[in-house]
Amino acid sequence: MAEAAFTPRVFSGIQPSGNLHLGNYLGALKRFAEAQERGTETLYCMVDLHAVTVWQEPADLTRATRELAAGFIASGLDPARSILFNQSQVAEHSQLAWVFNCVARMGWMQRMTQFKDKAGKNAQNASLGLFAYPALMAADILAYHATHVPVGEDQKQHIELSRDIAAKFNHDYGVEFFPLPEPVIEGAATRVMSLRDGTKKMSKSDPSDMSRINLTDDADAIAKKIRKARTDPEPLPSEAAGLAERPEARNLVNIYAALADMSVEQVMAEAGGQAFSVFKPRLADLAVERLAPISGEMKRLMGDAAAIDAILADGAGRARAIAAPILRRTYDIMGMVGAPRS
Ligand code: AMP
Ligand code: TRP
Repeated sequence: MAEAAFTPRVFSGIQPSGNLHLGNYLGALKRFAEAQERGTETLYCMVDLHAVTVWQEPADLTRATRELAAGFIASGLDPARSILFNQSQVAEHSQLAWVFNCVARMGWMQRMTQFKDKAGKNAQNASLGLFAYPALMAADILAYHATHVPVGEDQKQHIELSRDIAAKFNHDYGVEFFPLPEPVIEGAATRVMSLRDGTKKMSKSDPSDMSRINLTDDADAIAKKIRKARTDPEPLPSEAAGLAERPEARNLVNIYAALADMSVEQVMAEAGGQAFSVFKPRLADLAVERLAPISGEMKRLMGDAAAIDAILADGAGRARAIAAPILRRTYDIMGMVGAPRS
């Protein structure tokens, strides 16, 4: 079976570990919504099992999961058209992850840069789950035979590992059962950088709140953070090439382009030569215009936890209907005995 034999299906996930920020929005959520609008089958998951690879206070995890669901919906995901659910409600993710733990090799995992970053100097004290994390991620994707995975640049290595796992399974068992999923990393903002340091990515774990724009920030906070964003003293260059050695300027231009649905070249044609005292207020206005409705809608949705939980339960049921037969077939391929089917 050639890869083309798989129907296009989009899957992606975000960890419910608090502080959804502009990087998540531009690198992931906004693009999730675009995939939905193209009419492809789309599944989006709050990966709570991934979140607990590092310690999560139970009450915080509950809140962050609901807040993430609210963020998904406020960013344009429609629970009727996309399957929205949290990972722990669909046991097939964990079950397939075990199979993939037995397919993936220690050496593959040891090469993962995110593990090295997250485990830090104290790798011996990291959880086993943090090490095995990419195998669970491969299971998330492949439990649905998903073919396309929209993510930010930082996840590319993990998707490549998912391809390696799929290929090794297919090879070892002599089947063409799992598709090799494609990372979809496109647009001007696949890597949104910190507002305080243009060489570091915008991250929920940065101790400085001024480094990121949170999706829950109100208009004043958004405008203030952009006004105070670090820049160099030069005006904007007139061509994109002039941004190469200017990470902070490049970041603000990329953010502008992504928020305005423009290319970087279009932004340069319009704003080239402007001083930051002119460009920053324009960017702040645009950011407020695009983001304030999202934070307002998130707040509204967060007022009704039961409604969010019902959406996730419904999504989980629809997700399971796809994943269960794929897991059963996986077990069959491996020779696991199951109840006879009629
Ligand atoms: P995380 O918050 O790390 O679970 O990431 C969730 C999604 O947002 C993934 O698709 C990431 O690639 C994406 N993402 C996270 N941070 C950034 C960033 N600074 N720029 C672009 N995309 C990002
Ligand atoms: N590892 C991703 C992150 O940290 C989240 C994730 C988990 C994911 N499972 C996934 C992304 C499956 C895409 C597909 O951002």
